[in-house]
Formats: sequence, C-alpha cells, structure tokens
Amino acid sequence: VMSTPINKLLLSDLASGVNHVPSKYIRPVSDRPNLVDVVHVAEGSIPLIDLQGLHGPNHSDIITQIGLACQQDGFFQVKNHGVPETNISNMLRIAREFFRLPESERLKNYSDDPSKTTRLSTSFNIRTEKVANWRDFLRLHCHPLQDFVHEWPINPPSFRTDVAEYCTSTRRLALRLLEAISESLGLDSNYIDKQLGKHGQHMAINYYPPCPEPELTYGLPGHTDVNLITILLQDDVPGLQVLRDGKWISVNPIPNTFIVNVGDQMQVLSNDRYKSVLHRAVVNSDKERISIPTFYCPSPDAVIGPASGLDMGIRERERERRMDMVLDFEKEERNMNCWV
Ligand code: OGA
Ligand code: NI
Repeated sequence: VMSTPINKLLLSDLASGVNHVPSKYIRPVSDRPNLVDVVHVAEGSIPLIDLQGLHGPNHSDIITQIGLACQQDGFFQVKNHGVPETNISNMLRIAREFFRLPESERLKNYSDDPSKTTRLSTSFNIRTEKVANWRDFLRLHCHPLQDFVHEWPINPPSFRTDVAEYCTSTRRLALRLLEAISESLGLDSNYIDKQLGKHGQHMAINYYPPCPEPELTYGLPGHTDVNLITILLQDDVPGLQVLRDGKWISVNPIPNTFIVNVGDQMQVLSNDRYKSVLHRAVVNSDKERISIPTFYCPSPDAVIGPASGLDMGIRERERERRMDMVLDFEKEERNMNCWV
C-alpha cells in the first residue's frame, strides 16, 4: 500500500517528504510571522541575570534585578543557575535521540488525548484547532517523580534517568526562583511555595522540524503560559520571540543559560505587577530545533489569588496615589514655608 506523507500522525514523519507546507499548516495572510519585521538585537534584549551569589553578597541586588525583569519584560535569562552542565547536555542529547527514533518506536508514546499525563503528540490540540502548528512534542508530568516516571518512554534506554535528573535540578532552580520572586514582591521568601499545595511540574520536549516555507506557519503561535513560571531550555537554533512594545524580539540562544518567564498564575498572584507576556516560536528552512520548557505550577487542589498585601484594587491604588500627591504637595509647601 502506498502511504502518502499527509496521513502521518506526527509532523516529523511528514516534514522530510514535502517541499511545500501542506494546507492545514498555512496561516491566513493576516496571521503570519512577518519575519522581516522581527527585531534582532544583541544578547541584552532580554535581561541576563547572574544568579552567582544569590544566597550571598549579591542577594538584594539580584532580587531587585529579578523584580524589575518580571515587571518590565516578563522574561529574563539566568546564568550560574546551579543546574549542572552535564544535566543540560544529557537532556538535549536524549531529546534529539528520542525524536530520531524510528516512527514505529516513537508512536508507542502517541496520544491525542490532552488529559493524559504522558503523551507524544503534534501541533497543539489537534481535536480543536483549525490550523496546525509546525511542531511535535512529548509532554511529561514530573512531580512527584515517582508518580509519573513509570509512564515515561523506555527508549532511548537512558531516557528516564537523564530526564529525571534534569527534572530534579530544574525543580531546585524553580524553588530558588520562587523564593527570589516572593522576596521581590515584598513577601516572605516562602510565601509562593506555601500557596502551591503539593506543587506541580510539567515538561514539554518540543521538536520543530525544518520547514520549507517558514513564513506561512508557526512552531507555536503567540500565547502566554498559563502556569506560574516557565524555565525554558533551547538548543542552539533561534526561534523563540517575545513581544515587547508591539514588536517581536528574537531571543538568541546562549549556551547553558535558561530563559525564565512569568506565567498567567504569577501575574494573578502579583496582582498584575508582574507580566505574563506573549511569546511564540517560529521555524526555519534548514535546521531542526528543540526547546524544552519546564512549567512550574500549583498542584490541582491549590487556588491562586493575589497575594495578601498586593490585593489592592485599582480604585484603592488610585486613591492612594492621589493621597500621596496631596501629601507630597503639602510637604513641598512646608519646605517652602521654612525658607520664607
Ligand atoms: C512553550 C513555548 C517556546 C519555544 O512551549 O510554551 O513558549 O521556543 N515554547 O519553543
Ligand atoms: Ni510558552
């Protein structure tokens, strides 16, 4: 039987055989990447924060940098983050090896049911979406590890060990970041930790095959992350873009750094002080790309609301602002009165 490439369940097994983007991946003209309009700036585009000394002499300076980045960009990069380089390189290697397995081997993990805690799928939600995305992904739940690790792929043979090590290290980083973010909001350092119930951690391994016509489609269209914070590892191929002042900014990969972003739940917890910012992944015609987001979140039984002390409504804040202006004015008058 002849199999036409279009009948493939996974994009990986279709992409290599086409030299045009099939129609179900083509975005309407009004919703295309417009890659010529993307801003390519030097490494400093998204703040790069050095976590060295977070628990030492640079503590308050680093807290300030993190707070500012969450407020202004919703995104920052971290170096000296404490995740061993071997964990990172093993994770990237095993991700690559997984997506290079024969189709029949990969398909053992396939499901289009989003409620499954471990599954390999394609696009985003193929049951509901109108236009498909140029992406395959393996989704894993990672916390508590012992509840999920037995569901994970057994091939490549070191998959479970490498990924479990990576999850444990990134969880440690997530907890340190949540302490720092709590402090940056003026809360007790364990405030956020205590809001998350038993905590949750999910991961995606995104695989973006080369695409013959990258202008017509997305790896992932613009979205915000719904969780608390995301810690993204990307390989050395650019593709992530972040919206700032109405322009898409390309975030170029720096080896051994993570990209951290504020999710919707953190925006809520901070009462809109911190921003869950739109971002997207675009594809390119010559290289496959791998990105690995760790989504840190509350356990399903936890309820997230504005933190106590930050839950002032807009009206109250406006009233306070006006009162401050009155008081400043009076202070100035008093000063002037001193002079005359
Ligand atoms: C995501 C995401 C960006 C990327 O998976 O939520 O934003 O670069 N990924 O793949
Ligand atoms: Ni995202």
